[in-house]
Order: sequence, then C-alpha cells, then structure tokens
Amino acid sequence: MVVAIDGPAASGKGTLSQRIADAFGFAHLDTGVLYRAVGVSVLRAGGDPADNTAAARAAYELHPEHPILQEVALRTDEAAQAASKVAAVPEVRAALLDFQRRFATHPPGGAPGAVLDGRDIGTVVCPDAQAKLFVTASVEVRAERRLKELQRRGIPAISSDVLEDMKARDARDSQRAVAPLRPAVDAFVLDTSALDADQVFSMAVAHIGSKTGLKPAA
Ligand code: CDP
Ligand code: CDP
Repeated sequence: MVVAIDGPAASGKGTLSQRIADAFGFAHLDTGVLYRAVGVSVLRAGGDPADNTAAARAAYELHPEHPILQEVALRTDEAAQAASKVAAVPEVRAALLDFQRRFATHPPGGAPGAVLDGRDIGTVVCPDAQAKLFVTASVEVRAERRLKELQRRGIPAISSDVLEDMKARDARDSQRAVAPLRPAVDAFVLDTSALDADQVFSMAVAHIGSKTGLKPAA
C-alpha cells in the first residue's frame, strides 16, 4: 500500500505525511531530504549544485544509512536552494529513484505500507500508488509557515528572503524538464491556504479511505 503526497515547499506535505503514516502504521519517507543531502554534499565539496557531474557523483554516493541524512544543516534555506538545483539534473533523479522505490515496495520494519512525500511521487516514483494527494497553498501562506518553522528550529531567517527563495524554488521545480512539480491526473488536490493541519488530515484520511477502504488504527 503506497500513499503519494506531493506539493510545493511548505505546503504541509511533511506534517501530513507523518500523521498519515502514524495513523495507518505505515513507514514515511521525506524524499526532499535526499535532494537536500545531495545539494549539501556538493556545496561541502566546493562544487556547484547545478553542475551535472558533481551532482550526479554525490547522488550515487548517497545510501539509506548515510549520516548526512540526519543533519540539521539539511533544513536551511541554503540547503533547499541547492536541493532544487541538483533536482533538475536528470542523473540525480535517476540515481535517487531506486532508493525511493525500494522504500515504497519494502517499507522498513515490515510496515504494511509506505507514505512518500515530495514533488514527483504520484507522477514518476510511484505512479501506481493506491492514494495520491497534492497539497498546495498560496506562496505567501507557505513562506509564513516556513518562517515560523525556521524560527522554531532556531535557524535565523528574514521574511522577505524566505518568500523570494520560495518563489525561485517554485519556478525551478515547476519549470524543469525532468519530473516537474505538477499534480498527477488522479491526485486529490487540496488547497490548504485556509485550512489548519487537523482539517487537512481529516480530508486526507477520508480520501485514502475512499480509495483503499482503510481506516486509521487510532
Ligand atoms: O513538508 P512541507 O515543506 O510541505 O511542509 P511542512 O514542513 O510539513 O509544514 C510547514 C509548516 O506548516 C509546519 O510547521 C506545519 O505545522 C504548518 N502547517 C501545516 O503543516 N498544515 C497546515 N494546514 C497549516 C500549517
Ligand atoms: O520541505 P520543502 O517542501 O521546502 O522542500 P523539500 O521537500 O525538502 O525539497 C527540497 C527540494 O528538493 C525541492 O525544492 C525540489 O527541487 C527537490 N525535490 C524534488 O525535486 N523531488 C522530490 N521528490 C523531492 C524534492
């Protein structure tokens, strides 16, 4: 059982995915972390994230136990920008595909299902997912959410920079040639601009139930 959750930055995909995973006893993979790890690895090696060779090398070196995947440094805006640059490199996307598909077909801990969140889960990584959600919100609402989140984590950030960075990332993610950000034709599109996380969760549970017949355990 696979639930695919896609959407732009700070739309609430990660929060929703973790809640869905907890409710149904599924494993959760935040695929953005993989792109962030590749972007940060390239920066640390003194490379340019938009350079195909450097980005592809870093992507092929990434594996599920790599310690970089746990680093707080992946949460910064700098990491997000680097991620969206390496994410436009076709070899990077190809290198990360196996990692993601293996998680979907063999969820860790023998979980009966997996929730993957990202940009292209419903369109490319798991096109046969039993339930697909596309979560979105206005860029202003999303920038505000991200700012609060960075402040909560103690990461310094300026409101206007977060908004500009998000617009730049939205543009790069939706205009790239390979696996651009867009809803799958069979995705349930949820605009969360005026919804809180509990409302989004209830709507997502109802959608998953209608597609799979599953109900949350708790
Ligand atoms: O994973 P993604 O970047 O899409 O977003 P997130 O990190 O899950 O959520 C960004 C922030 O928005 C979190 O602090 C949530 O508490 C908050 N939020 C939400 O997730 N859903 C809403 N409907 C409203 C706010
Ligand atoms: O948390 P937030 O939504 O801000 O970003 P993220 O999900 O961590 O993703 C960081 C970047 O990785 C995105 O801007 C995309 O360029 C890229 N990404 C992607 O191309 N495909 C995915 N499945 C996940 C992330």
